Amino acid sequence: MTEAKLSTFSAPKGTYDLIPPDSETFLAVREAIAAPLRSAGYGYIETPVFEDVKLFSRGVGESTDIVTKEMYSLTTKGGDELALRPEGTASVLRAALQANLHRVGNLPVKLWYSGSYYRYEKPQAGRYRQFSQVGAEAIGAEDPALDAELIILAVDAYRSLGLKNFRLLLNSLGDRECRPVYRAALQDFLRGLDLDEDTLRRAEINPLRVLDDKRESVQKQLTGAPLMRDHLCEDCKAYHEQVRELLTAAGVAFEDDPKLVRGLDYYTRTTFEFVHDGLGSQSAVGGGGRYDGLSEMIGGPALPSVGWALGVDRTVLALKAEGVETAVPARTQVFAVPLGEQARQVLFGLVTEARRAGVAADIAFGGKGLKGAMKSADRSGARWAVVAGERDLADGVVQLKDLTTGDQTPVAVTALVTTLKEKLS
Ligand code: HAM
Repeated sequence: MTEAKLSTFSAPKGTYDLIPPDSETFLAVREAIAAPLRSAGYGYIETPVFEDVKLFSRGVGESTDIVTKEMYSLTTKGGDELALRPEGTASVLRAALQANLHRVGNLPVKLWYSGSYYRYEKPQAGRYRQFSQVGAEAIGAEDPALDAELIILAVDAYRSLGLKNFRLLLNSLGDRECRPVYRAALQDFLRGLDLDEDTLRRAEINPLRVLDDKRESVQKQLTGAPLMRDHLCEDCKAYHEQVRELLTAAGVAFEDDPKLVRGLDYYTRTTFEFVHDGLGSQSAVGGGGRYDGLSEMIGGPALPSVGWALGVDRTVLALKAEGVETAVPARTQVFAVPLGEQARQVLFGLVTEARRAGVAADIAFGGKGLKGAMKSADRSGARWAVVAGERDLADGVVQLKDLTTGDQTPVAVTALVTTLKEKLS
């Protein structure tokens, strides 16, 4: 391929490159979401970006859009059927089971993760084919306080970033006792509506997903549809009430959304979504819930669990929509401007020494002249420039230039790093 052709490559459809300075905001968001988790006892876990495709078809659900339409699946040269992970929960649970974390540790096993996920979706603002999540899973305990803990940690993360206009939607999807009864009632109702064939088929396989249909013609007919909350068994009702009380006691506002259905099939009981009103149609900045049956679905023992994942891309967009500045980009404090080969060697050594002493330092590369190097110094945002030529070095000094005032003073080479540290403290 010719050079000209190569230069026309761009990031694949539905993906984008993270570049400075925006990439700093991404790091800040990831760190802000992780911080409350770490101080609440969640340990970091990393799993492969691809897994056996069956993990997701069984775990996330054979009839979900994620599995039927959006999964990047592939057959390896060795004949393995793999898929790029469309979400993190099934992988994290798989890894926890494989490492026997549920046997060796105290329950719940609390884990957090951060990484890229892949869904072959129709790209639009806020919806990408590769996106970034920070997630948390608490495995092996059925306790409303754990559901509440996770929701509160997410809210605290958003708040620590300065995000304000987000809302928490809350629902319960019942358990294996009450959900089948509700499912049948909903199916009966849906069969009586004027729906297209596709939707009727969905009503037979996964009726709850019809509640989530965005089309007005469908939504209009759903008024009066039976709701899960009116079919919850006593245990599920009491459990949900406790989650709501704990959230209220922690000062976390929520909206009951009896039609909230998530796009993954593993949920039971508590389900929730965080939405931001400044994002248009892709308004969900995060979501999660309890998944008491998933472990058994992927071949493990009964391990009631709960978790969430927050979308980093959309959180960044939400911060932008609110005009919140998060990231203080890593700033160069000192910029070295060597004039001549000997000065380059000496200043390179001094820059290394300064960095090791905790001073953020940079140097002009590529044999720039004084003018070009000073321009780089200005662009770097550094407060100080260290300029030196052969004559300075012969006198054992470098010139320390204050880039805000333009004042310049000679400083002994041997005293430079100490002087910088004093000036910057
Ligand atoms: P999810 O709702 O599918 O849940 O994804 C969580 C978040 O990831 C969404 O709220 C959204 O912010 C972001 N997200 C999803 N798809 C895209 C996309 N195509 N482009 C940009 N952002 C996207 C899960 O993935 C569950 N695993 C959450 C969970 C953890 N439930 C229990 N534990």
